[in-house]
Amino acid sequence: MHLTKKEKDLLQGSEGKGIQRAMEILSALGEIYAAEKLIPVESVQVSGVSFKNLGDAGLEFLKDWAETGVKARVKAFLNPAGMDLRDWRRLGFPEEFAVKQLRIIDNLKRMDLELTCTCTPYLAGNKPRLGEHIAWSESSAVSYANSVLGARTNRESGISALSSALTGLTPEYGFHLDMNRKADYVVDVSSSLKSASDYSALGYMVGKRVGGGIPYFRGLSNPSADELKSLGAAMAASGSVAMYHVENVTPEANPDSIKKDAPVLEINDLAKGYSELNSKTRVIDLVSIGCPHASMEELQEIASLLEGERVNTTLWITTSRYVKQKAEDSGLLDRIQGSGAVVVSDTCMVVAPVEDLGFKSMATNSGKMAFYVPSHCGLKVRFGSLRQCINSALTGRWEP
Ligand code: F3S
Repeated sequence: MHLTKKEKDLLQGSEGKGIQRAMEILSALGEIYAAEKLIPVESVQVSGVSFKNLGDAGLEFLKDWAETGVKARVKAFLNPAGMDLRDWRRLGFPEEFAVKQLRIIDNLKRMDLELTCTCTPYLAGNKPRLGEHIAWSESSAVSYANSVLGARTNRESGISALSSALTGLTPEYGFHLDMNRKADYVVDVSSSLKSASDYSALGYMVGKRVGGGIPYFRGLSNPSADELKSLGAAMAASGSVAMYHVENVTPEANPDSIKKDAPVLEINDLAKGYSELNSKTRVIDLVSIGCPHASMEELQEIASLLEGERVNTTLWITTSRYVKQKAEDSGLLDRIQGSGAVVVSDTCMVVAPVEDLGFKSMATNSGKMAFYVPSHCGLKVRFGSLRQCINSALTGRWEP
């Protein structure tokens, strides 16, 4: 990989050990993927923030890096942490976990990363433009940025994204290049999709079929932004899809963006997706909405469904601090929390230690959440529409 004189100097340690380490990581990555050069990025999103994922070794690694005094050179957001950073005590998070989690956050803050712990940075003041190069690592955010916004990012690891934050650079390969953004599959959908959970079920089924390929959807009629974020999140979980096209919807979808001889898959029924993501549990003790983190539109819908109701089991709605603040300013937060539901920020139920909070079963309208929670947290999961999830929050039971 060609490096400029300035980049070579950084690699030699001209500006200290912290940035030298970041350059070593990016250079190694560039060599592995045969990148020709490093390119500047406009923003970064760093995953691997939860103590549940990082453990003591990860905490020490970050501490060591932060002690070099290195600082972020571009706008850099964080992925969800393992708990609500302000409200963790009231929500029952264990003190021992919280202390370690706060140390991780402190080290990231010392490196000037913004404490916007969210998987939807594009809803929280960081919406990249068409063609903009970025280095994001949360899989659902990568998918949304590449596909819905037309920005350009690989699916970075937490470490490579942090290296990009500290240098403002990323190796130019993969989704940064036009030639790698064409569809490998055409997916013809003839089912009628009505909700974010339908898009999740579709995403789950397609992700399993295409793995890391790029699907080109035909037949989807005007999905909303929230439906697209559910679709991408589920495909990134059951497969490793980092980009997709939707005909007449996403900015780079046109017949020329399909590879010659791309196989055609047909989806005419979502039942298999729903059944594979569902356990048989009838008792629900946690309802989790907001995967990916909820938008204002979703909070509005939740508020309407909860109007005049009282929840009978724990209902946590996860979102970014940014959206939560907007909801508070508009009075929406009070309307939701008046039912006994809680709007939780900074975290998500996959990276939070929910198994230590006494929960045994969960209902969710997110395919990504339903996919990961059984293996990551050991809870039994029910997956269905938002209305079904809200109903189970009111009754504590799952009605098929
Ligand atoms: Fe976000 Fe967690 Fe879902 S990071 S996409 S809420 S699994």
